[in-house]
Amino acid sequence: MDTQVLIIGSGPGGYVAAIRCAQLGMKVTLVEKYPTLGGTCLNVGCIPSKALLDSSEHYDQARHTFKDHGIRVNGLEIDMAQMIKRKQDVVDQTCKGVQFLMKKNKIEVLQGTAGFKSPSEVEIKKVDGTTVFIRAEKIIIATGSKPITPAAFNYDKTRIITSTEALNLSEVPKRMIVIGAGVIGLEMGSVFARLGTQVEVIEFLDRILPGMDGEGSKELKKVLEKSGIIFHLDHSVMSVTTIGNEVQVTYQSRESTEQKSMKADYCLIAIGRKAYTQDLGLVNAGILQDEKGRIVINEHLQTNHPHIFAIGDVIRGAMLAHKASDEGIYVAEFMAGQKPHIDYNLIPGVVYTWPEFAGVGQTEEQLKEKNTPYKTGKFPFKALARSRASMDTDGMVKVLADRDTDQILGVHILGARAADLIMEAVTLMEFKASAEDMARICHPHPTFSEALKEAGFAAWSGKALHL
Ligand code: FAD
Ligand code: NAI
Repeated sequence: MDTQVLIIGSGPGGYVAAIRCAQLGMKVTLVEKYPTLGGTCLNVGCIPSKALLDSSEHYDQARHTFKDHGIRVNGLEIDMAQMIKRKQDVVDQTCKGVQFLMKKNKIEVLQGTAGFKSPSEVEIKKVDGTTVFIRAEKIIIATGSKPITPAAFNYDKTRIITSTEALNLSEVPKRMIVIGAGVIGLEMGSVFARLGTQVEVIEFLDRILPGMDGEGSKELKKVLEKSGIIFHLDHSVMSVTTIGNEVQVTYQSRESTEQKSMKADYCLIAIGRKAYTQDLGLVNAGILQDEKGRIVINEHLQTNHPHIFAIGDVIRGAMLAHKASDEGIYVAEFMAGQKPHIDYNLIPGVVYTWPEFAGVGQTEEQLKEKNTPYKTGKFPFKALARSRASMDTDGMVKVLADRDTDQILGVHILGARAADLIMEAVTLMEFKASAEDMARICHPHPTFSEALKEAGFAAWSGKALHL
């Protein structure tokens, strides 16, 4: 064997698996086809999108709320080239950080495209045209996902784009049509709406953010509408074409066959992502895939070959960086003979709109569907002094607890800093806490976290304190 563990893909699944394997004493080789490490998350996903969300939020505040704080700004302008450069600096630093961690942990890194020759041998095609064959005791597939781009949408990477290109636009579009009111549609839609683009979102379903709590999603839609984003729910897109420097989107309501069309400078396709297994040679190794092309795994993340594992976006479950990383840690520890565990019910989801929207555990819709008896405690941020101080009064915290035992079953937060606040709920739920526990824990004043205490109080005793 050339190496003990061969990991294919350096995203948050693959590179974290590599570090944990090395920490547990294994000899590790990591293969990545691109010149920079970090995968979708670091290069064209989580990190660049958050960098642009922050920049655009600063601009939006300077435009709309600074005056209320008594700050006058004259000659406010967007320097798109600088905004994109800062984003790229953040990405570059973060990717270099991963490179450093690989060196520090003595992980061998190879740049090239990996493909199975057989269940135990992988061919790596390098950029210089040479080929290396590697035999490994254990193999972890962490090849991630790519955007879904139907042929009728004519994805051209110039005017008809996905998030990858949207993160690198050199101008602020006048009009942008977004297909899909999911996480990418709303995050990238928010970036451009804040910069002054007229954003219109076409969504197939009758709601935004399927999978997130319905009440919070409705509330978020109202806030985004107030900020100028236009939603066309219950509509499906038939085709997208470019006409000169414009795009034309043809779409129709789900209830009628009448076709409508709309024009814009850009069309962002954000209708989901699919497992990425191109060039992997899964057939040569006889590795099974499901009907969506995802690699089939058992409860230990083993494929039909017990020495080959798969993690992250390329398998079932939420397409989230922290889920991929936790699966990487799981596999490393499982291979080392430990007994790791992942509670998939407790993987938090966050949408980085403003206000942010975060949830963990069960939504009200899921509890109703399962006929689980539950009680609800809510607290609006507008009743919190901290929120009024920073003018972040939109949204609320909702705690769902078991009607009989008071155990917390789900927590959903729409509001400022929800992305960080949700961790209190995750921690409490990991330790099977009750709504009363949440209410009795001392929360610092004045903080946004007091809304969790209040919502916990409401779920446990039926009444919040400050309402
Ligand atoms: P990836 O990160 O996709 O990495 C897979 C790697 O494998 C890639 O580098 C690829 O080049 C490499 N590879 C593929 N095939 C081969 C091969 N044959 N040989 C060699 N290398 C190969 N998630 C969050 O949790 N929070 C967020 O805020 C967030 N924001 C996002 C924003 C955007 C715009 C997008 C697109 C995604 C976002 N995500 C976010 C999702 C997150 O990026 C993914 O869930 C995560 O990157 C999945 O990690 P992974 O390791 O499974 O795969
Ligand atoms: P998504 O699955 O979140 O949303 C896609 C939306 O498009 C859905 O609402 C769906 O109903 C709609 N849709 C599908 N086909 C359509 C059509 N033909 N016409 C109109 N609407 C249509 O997918 P998205 O936003 O592309 O994101 C992909 C993945 O990336 C997500 O699963 C998410 O987990 C991950 N991601 C996570 C982020 C985060 O954690 N903050 C940020 C960005 C992405």
